This record gives sequence, structure tokens and C-alpha cells, in this order.
Amino acid sequence: MPIPLRRMRTAQIATGVTALATTAALLAVPAASAGLTSPRVTGGSAVAAAGGTAHTMSAATRQRLASIASDVNSLIGKMTLAEKVGQLEMSGPAGPNGTPGQTLLDEVRSGEVGSVLDLVGVDNINQVQQAALQSRLHIPVIFGLDVIHGYKTIFPVPIGEASSWDPAAVQNDASISASEASADGIKWTFNPMVDVSRDPRWGRVVEGAGEDPFLGSAMAVAKVKGYQGDDFSAPDKMAATIKHFGAYGAVQAGREYNTTDMSEQQLRNVYLPPYKSAVDAGAATVMSAFTSLNGVPDTANSYLLTTILRNEWQFGGTVVSDYQAIQELEAFGYATSGAQAAQLAITAGVTIEMGVQVPSQFSTYTLYLADLVKSGKVSMSTIDNDVRHVLTLKELAGLFAHPLTDPNRVKNSELTPASLAAARTMAGRSMVLLNDNNHALPLSSGVPSIAVVGPLADNPSDQLGPDVPIGYSPSDLTSVVSVLNGIKAAAPHATVSYAQGCDATCTSTSGFAAAVSAAQASAVTVVVVGEPASYSGEASSRSDISLPGQQTALVQAIAATGKPYVVVLMNGRPLTLGWVADNAPALLEAWFPGTEGGNAVADVLFGKVNPGGKLPMSFPRNAGQIPISYNELPTGRPDDPSNKYTSRYLDVPNTPQFSFGYGLSYTTFSLSNLSVSAGRVSADIANTGSAAGDDVVQLYIHQDGTSILQPVRRLEGFQRVSLSAGQTKRVTFTLGRDQIGFYNNQGQFEVDPGTVDVYVGDNSVGGLHGQFTEK
Ligand code: BGC
Repeated sequence: MPIPLRRMRTAQIATGVTALATTAALLAVPAASAGLTSPRVTGGSAVAAAGGTAHTMSAATRQRLASIASDVNSLIGKMTLAEKVGQLEMSGPAGPNGTPGQTLLDEVRSGEVGSVLDLVGVDNINQVQQAALQSRLHIPVIFGLDVIHGYKTIFPVPIGEASSWDPAAVQNDASISASEASADGIKWTFNPMVDVSRDPRWGRVVEGAGEDPFLGSAMAVAKVKGYQGDDFSAPDKMAATIKHFGAYGAVQAGREYNTTDMSEQQLRNVYLPPYKSAVDAGAATVMSAFTSLNGVPDTANSYLLTTILRNEWQFGGTVVSDYQAIQELEAFGYATSGAQAAQLAITAGVTIEMGVQVPSQFSTYTLYLADLVKSGKVSMSTIDNDVRHVLTLKELAGLFAHPLTDPNRVKNSELTPASLAAARTMAGRSMVLLNDNNHALPLSSGVPSIAVVGPLADNPSDQLGPDVPIGYSPSDLTSVVSVLNGIKAAAPHATVSYAQGCDATCTSTSGFAAAVSAAQASAVTVVVVGEPASYSGEASSRSDISLPGQQTALVQAIAATGKPYVVVLMNGRPLTLGWVADNAPALLEAWFPGTEGGNAVADVLFGKVNPGGKLPMSFPRNAGQIPISYNELPTGRPDDPSNKYTSRYLDVPNTPQFSFGYGLSYTTFSLSNLSVSAGRVSADIANTGSAAGDDVVQLYIHQDGTSILQPVRRLEGFQRVSLSAGQTKRVTFTLGRDQIGFYNNQGQFEVDPGTVDVYVGDNSVGGLHGQFTEK
């Protein structure tokens, strides 16, 4: 079958239950037994207490689940095969300008569509839902959308949120997103993306939490809890999806949609932990990845979707394919027909096909499942089980009880003062101070004149970054505060001039002269450079991850004036910064900071907020160092500059430009009094400077003498701590056997006896060192 051209994405605006969800498992699969896999993969202490299991469920929850199970089973008993297949098909809006088309309405009314992607607007959604309510069995449709870092209030991109190392704040953002999206009738987000990645060439690192499984687990759990709350039938909650299962972030050469191929130990120790943690936290749904793992496309990968997800992890929710990925099994050459693609996917464990075709002529489940059942290639019990997952999801989302959305909710839910305040707080907390030579920052509030220059300085659209949801319109951009406007508001008495210099691709230097004049005429210049939003996100891999075009030359031109300047970065991935990293007097990584980004940048520039973010991903010196991560395995010939025959480059050090866990502050911190005992690590963190500030205390471990090599270090705990000047706090981490252990290449979890090295610091490099013996 020919593969139809997929829709164009609309990311660029300027131009254009825990307990309930987890135990849904109980409704659909044989008795869930907690603890089949080691809690090590839950991410340890940072995410403990997140999971709900059969054993922790309240009597009321049990009762509700039993009643849902009985309703769902009785409904399944009344359904025709065509209606069952309909529940497994996800459609698109298909009308003009994203409205519901007549074909969609007809298909919904006849029970051929169970879910709809990318339809926004409460009236549109209610119109489709009314059609569903007219269907023979009145089964509601569930509406899904990529709500990734906000719906109307746009928060920093996820890699920025991860830089906050503040799961509670991330949870709060997700909860605001759920409130705004659900007011429109969206009860299902395809987020969080929990793909660990060590390759900043891959554009989708912007959607994730970076290179580390422990931090990634904490962020994954925070997002799931924020979107779903304890019960996502609540009007202001929605179901979460963890994606893209699994190990999509390991695409070879950082090239989008490319192959992934790895050892069992790497899969389980590095890539799977955030998915497992999110499953334990009750994520209602999982999306399979576009990619292949070890030679098998994930959409047809029964090892991932059944052996690990269903059997080991006891996931009982719904698995959705990625966009048209089932038919892509033919493009892989893995299936030789659409029918075989449908059979492979449903047998491997894909519940819903994100087919998104209207009419469903290209959707393999719609086209082929009924015949596959009739010919005995797919059993009716497989179909029934999948339909049970979908109907249970809809029950848990409260759609049977409240299928329609109150249109009056929208005006009270969007861009509220509390949401905007949260966006400003998170943007401030996500910023990472990379350089601050001779206290170039913070700027004095009395500075008489400021030049604001650069392609991202007054650029609301790019400032939001990629993955702004469908439905976010050019008029919504008026709520975005640019850096220029943030600075004007923060320094009302200063003369503020602006010159763009160049646009974000920066192919022309014709605007440089105006930027240089502005700098010459001002006491200080704030240069805001980075990537256009379209350079990261899906289908946005880059082989050269430096500042685009002539942007470095723009910074150099400002530097050449000899006047004070500072650099702010907005970007969706770690960049190779070269000259700018080595020379900018101050360098502030703001990521794409969202709606309130300009205010938040100004808060940090003027010291109202003391930056405390830390990098969730290494910044390489050049792209030749990629893949790069702090938690690499040891080599037998570790880097030794005096010996050529060691693991090193001839032309660049092994170390990154800026390491995982790194970030400066306007104050200084010091760690002392490390105490290490079995299961417990403590240290004192003191603010030794003169300003209040935040530091992130990080716990790393390493063990020699294990059955397989262990990372030179791996993160097993962190705490973001706020300290007033001169204040000291004691920070304590628990360190269980579940964290000390690891998966071997047989996929078994083991804890080996021996000496465990412990490092406590505020970076993945250095820190206090201690040891204990694991028995
Ligand atoms: C992406 C998913 C996304 C889906 C629906 C796909 O292209 O890979 O992450 O959820 O589209 O928009």
C-alpha cells in the first residue's frame, strides 16, 4: 500500500490516578503482582511513593474499578465486531481549518471511530461528541492532543523544565496544562516524552528531560501526576501518555526516525527507567515509537510491548501507535502487506492505531482487523481485550458520565494570573547560568541604558519553542512577554534600545551595524541568540549544532565594541558554543522559556531571581564528541594526556564544554561533612556567599568489581535546596539496594557485593567522596 503523505505539523505560529490508572491493569490482565521488577527502575527515592499497586488501593477505588469492569464487559457483550474495531481507530478532524468534517461526524455516529487526534475548540469537540452520543451504543469519543509544555499558558520546553531539577514545580505546570486543555474537551495528552538521549543532534531532546534515567524518571512521574492527578475523571485532569516506547532517544547518528540498536543492559539501565517509573506512577497510556529496536520495529515489537510492558511491568492501560506507524511497517519492509502490518501490531500489543485518516481508507485496523478475526489470524479475545482497555480509559476519564464539556469553563481556565505566575516561576527556575566572569551578572537596577539585540530578543513565536499545541493561534502570541519587553518592565528608568541584528537563521549580516551602534550607545548590551523554534522538535535533527548562521559573528561584533555585554541563549538542545562559551562575560541558558520568558529572563538578569538550574544534558565542545553523557562506562585505557594510546581525541578533550548537573549562581556554595552509611548518605550544603540562592545537591554512585561494568558515575538522588546567605542545611538521601543494583545482559536485576563509591556534589564532576560496603 502506498504511504500517504502525512499532515504538515502546525508548530510554528508566527507564520501561520495514580492508583486508578495503574490498576486499570486489574481490569484487563490477570492479577497484577507488585514488585516483579526491581524498584531500581522506578528511579529510586526521587519518585518513590508515586506508584499505585493492587496492594495500596483503597476499598472505594476497588469498588469503582469493579463497577467499571462490569460496565465495560457488559458493553463489550453488546458490540458488533465493526464497533469493536472502531474503538481501536483514532481519526483526525478532516474538516476545513481543523474543524470536524462531515465524514468524521458520520463515522463517529456509526461507531467507526473511537478517538480523535488534533481536534481543538470546545464547540468542535462537543459537536463530535454529540455525534458519538447518537451512535447505537452511545460510546463517547476521547479527544487526544500533543499538550507538551502548555496549552495556552506555555511553559519552558521540557528540557528547560528538567533543568529546574524541581519535580514539584513541573507537576504544577502539567496540572495547569491539564486544566486549560480539558476546558476545551481534551482529555488525553500525548505527553510526557520520557526518551533519554545522549545525542543533542536529535531534535526531540527538547521534548525530554535529557541524558539521565534518574532525573528523567523524576520528571516523567511529575508530569504524569500533574496531568492525571489522583483521578483523571476530574473535569480539570486528563490522561497522560508516556512515549515513545522504547529507546527512541537512541536513534543512530541523532538522525530522526533512525534505527536504535543496543545491549540489554543499556536498554534496561539507561533507556527504560523513565517509562517504568511513569507506569508505576499510573500513566494511563503508552505510545510505541516509530523506530526499530535491535532489528524489530517498536510498533510490532512484542518484546517491548508485551514481554516488558504488559508482563513484567503489569501495565494495564492502553497502548497507542505513533502517527500512522502501523502502516509504516510496510515501509520498513517488515510487513509485506497492510493486513500483515495490522496483525503484527495488534499481536505485539498496540491497542489503538493512530491512523488519522478520514475516511479511514489508509488505517490498517479499520481495513483489515475484521477479516483477520474472521480468518482466525487475530483472535476475538485479543480484540475484546483491546476494546476493554479503550473503554476503561474512557471510563477512567469520566467520559461516560460527562461526555460533553461545559463551554463556559474555557474563559476561566486559560492564562489565569496563577498560571502566568507559575510560568514565570518555572522559566526562572529552569535557567542555567553557564558563565559569569567577574560578576558580569546580575545587572545593576540603576543601569542607565541597555541595548537589547539579537534574533531571539523580541521574537514571541520562537521564544515559545517547538511543540506549541495545535489551536494556539497568532492572537495567542499577544500574551507572550519577549525579553525586550521583560527588560523594559524591569528597568523602567533605563533607556532601552533594540536592534535585531539578524533573524534566527542569521544568513545576512546587514543588520549588524545597527546592533553595534545600539551597543556602542548603551551602558550594557543583552544579546539574545539561539535557534529558531523549528530547529528542534520532531523531524529536526541537525548535524551541526552550533549557533545558526552568523550568530556567533553577531556576538563577536558586539564584543568588539569593548562595551559590557551578556549573552542569553534560547535553544532546544545543547549547542556547541565555541567562541561564545569561551568568551562571553556572562552566558545564561534560558532554553525556550515560554509565555512569561521575557519577564523571567529579566528577573534573572537583574538578580531578582538567582539562577539555580543545572544542565540535564552535556553540552559538547564539538559535534564529533557525540554521543556524549556523563554516565559512560569505564574503558581499560582511560584518558591520559601523557599517553597517546588511551581513550581520547587528538584534537579536543574528552570532557564536555559544560557538564551534566552544572550551573552557576550569583552566590557560592560549599559541601562538607559527608556521612555515608548503609542506605543513607548525608552532607551539609552551605551558602557561602552574600545572596540567597538555590543549589542542587546531587548524589552519584559507582561500583567496581561487578559482573558487568558500571557507569563511571550515575545519579541516584538530588535535591534542589534554597538557602539564604550564610545558611547551612543538611541534605539526606536514602540509597536502597534497588538503586545500587543494575540489570545484567540477561535482563536480570542484580546487586553485587563490594565497595560502592559515593559522590555528593553540585555537578557530575567533583564533589565529596565516600565509600561503603555492599554486602
Ligand atoms: C509524534 C508523536 C505525537 C504524534 C501525534 C507523532 O508524529 O511522534 O510524539 O504524539 O505525532 O501528534
